[in-house]
Amino acid sequence: MITSLIMAGGKGERFWPKSRTNLPKQFLNISGNKSMIQQAVARLERLMDIQQIFVVTNELYAELISAQIPHLPSHNIIIEPIGRNTAPCIALSSIYIQEKYPDSTIIVLPSDHIIKDEIEFIEILRTATEVAKQGENIVTLGISPTYPETGYGYIESTDQVATINQMEVHRVRCFIEKPDQVTAENYLEAGNYYWNSGMFIWKASTIMNCFAKHMPDLYENLSTMKLALNSPERELVIKNEFMKMPDQSIDYGIMEKAENIFVIPCMLGWDDVGSWTALDRIDERDENGNVIRGNILNMDTRRCIIESNNGKLIATLGIEDLIVVDTDDVTLICSKDKAQEVKQLLKELRMQK
Ligand code: GDD
Ligand code: MG
Repeated sequence: MITSLIMAGGKGERFWPKSRTNLPKQFLNISGNKSMIQQAVARLERLMDIQQIFVVTNELYAELISAQIPHLPSHNIIIEPIGRNTAPCIALSSIYIQEKYPDSTIIVLPSDHIIKDEIEFIEILRTATEVAKQGENIVTLGISPTYPETGYGYIESTDQVATINQMEVHRVRCFIEKPDQVTAENYLEAGNYYWNSGMFIWKASTIMNCFAKHMPDLYENLSTMKLALNSPERELVIKNEFMKMPDQSIDYGIMEKAENIFVIPCMLGWDDVGSWTALDRIDERDENGNVIRGNILNMDTRRCIIESNNGKLIATLGIEDLIVVDTDDVTLICSKDKAQEVKQLLKELRMQK
């Protein structure tokens, strides 16, 4: 059985002030007329029934998910007791998925990415699941890098290639999560590195074996959870064991150590919509390079991203390379080259409160 797991516990802080703790990025309409998570579910429904789609998140967002995806069975919403990053998130979810579909192959994917080419995406997932089923294989979708991004994982491919369904599937030499600037520049130049798109395809049994091998302490917690599945205390045991797991991402915890990784190079019109500057790639720009959303009057304004969310007029004159986002209670004015640091601004704000 093919299943999928959408990870929807992120805070989307670099998209503040539009993205808020009670309504983070994945629940917003960033492009198109559906929220990002609604788009993620709709894409997967081209490949599988809604019964096979699982969403993992924390308690805070369970109601939002039910409201935005009313046809998602409530038992397909997996609730984490606390945010512990993606390794524990995937580990816990794999137990629930295996309970419902013991022999499943799982497509793990984020809830907050844009994929423009849905047909290509579905075809690639078909091939990826075939490869995953063939053995203890971890399959990734690799995006050709266009600049030395340090916020992504990099996948070094080898020239060991198989062609499956007219698609190249490369064996991977290694996976490096978030390299420093110089290393990222070297990878870009080398030509055989791909960005990790944050999607993973594997059999449930494969990832369980990876946890056993590379994160043995976490695997012990998982084993205790499994033993308690038929006991009346199951939810309590699951919660206790989850709380003991380390705060670690799947990328550092498993991917950097695993063997048997494969990559399918693809384009997909993929964007992880990491910060406000993503709108430069997603939206059409006007003749002065501005991205304009909402009620805006601009004059002598260049390369700015301006969004009004409340109908209020934003008027700009003689500004360049700025991000201006107005919401009911907050207005952000930020230099474009500081877009990644909006997170820090939010931290400072919390400290002041
Ligand atoms: N349920 C749940 N619980 N979801 C989570 C948690 C958690 O504790 N932590 C993160 N997520 C979700 C986020 O909402 C997002 O959809 C996805 O998991 C990935 O987490 P990010 O925090 O956004 O990871 P990243 O951007 O730093 O890096 C990952 O994605 C990059 C591509 O966008 C890595 O996989 C990189 O290697 C990759 O290049
Ligand atoms: Mg991300």
